[in-house]
Amino acid sequence: MPKLTFVGTDGSRLIVAAPVGDSVLEIARRHGIDLEGACEGSMACSTCHVIVDPVFYDRLGEVSEDEADMLDLAFGLTPTSRLGCQIVITEALDGLVLEVPTATRNVLLG
Ligand code: FES
Repeated sequence: MPKLTFVGTDGSRLIVAAPVGDSVLEIARRHGIDLEGACEGSMACSTCHVIVDPVFYDRLGEVSEDEADMLDLAFGLTPTSRLGCQIVITEALDGLVLEVPTATRNVLLG
């Protein structure tokens, strides 16, 4: 099964199993990571903002117009920012590394 690494703002890391077909938001919640996802994945918020390691960014699908609009509202937007609810795990994403801009050591143990 693919693996995924969440990185907190303090550099702490948590490596978790990432089942194919699950979204990053779903996986984050399963592991108690502080990724809010206020709109439950309907692209009406930007609280699931994650920063993708540049090595993996091009392996993700295109950013849709709706996603780009929401990302514009995200705090701390970067060139490799994405919405966590829109990243769906595939085998090609094994090893994916994501920074969670809102996560601190309190929520990201490891
Ligand atoms: Fe709202 Fe991802 S959960 S846009």
